[in-house]
Amino acid sequence: MNIGITKVFTAIFCCLVIASSCNKNDEPNPLPNGDVEVSLEKDVQPIFNQNCIMCHPANGDMSLIQGEAYSNLVNFMSPNYNKVRVSPFYADSSVICFKLHGIEGYGLQMPLNGIPLEDSEIKIIEDWIGQGALNN
Ligand code: HEC
Repeated sequence: MNIGITKVFTAIFCCLVIASSCNKNDEPNPLPNGDVEVSLEKDVQPIFNQNCIMCHPANGDMSLIQGEAYSNLVNFMSPNYNKVRVSPFYADSSVICFKLHGIEGYGLQMPLNGIPLEDSEIKIIEDWIGQGALNN
């Protein structure tokens, strides 16, 4: 019986040692959202270019073209939903994310052509917001 318990404890101890050694994080400063820094220009803007700017063009109500998207989104209060379109660090309170997920109470799902973005594309936008929605 005693030997049994010792074996069990030894096994648990070994598991903990293995688990903690596997848990080592090579990144010195892991980002809170996603593994790599997301760039507005390189990662997010191409999604806007392909899926949004045909309806959100330059000089429109909410231009999403390169160089204009940032100021129309980040900390910009939506006139329709009484919340900011992009709230830095808070994807879960940003109007753009409600629109991309088609959350009830936030009008029509974007893009309005009926083909939602891929989950991976939404994640890029949410990671960008989660990392502070930088103008990078
Ligand atoms: C086929 C046209 C069309 C496409 C494509 C489209 N939108 Fe829209 N978008 C609209 C229209 C029309 C509205 C206003 C009606 C509404 O809010 O539902 C709107 C509203 C919005 C709003 C709300 C703005 C506010 O403050 O009220 C956001 C955010 C938005 N779109 C983001 C996007 C994003 C991001 C994309 C690309 C992924 C996109 N839209 C693609 C037509 C489109």
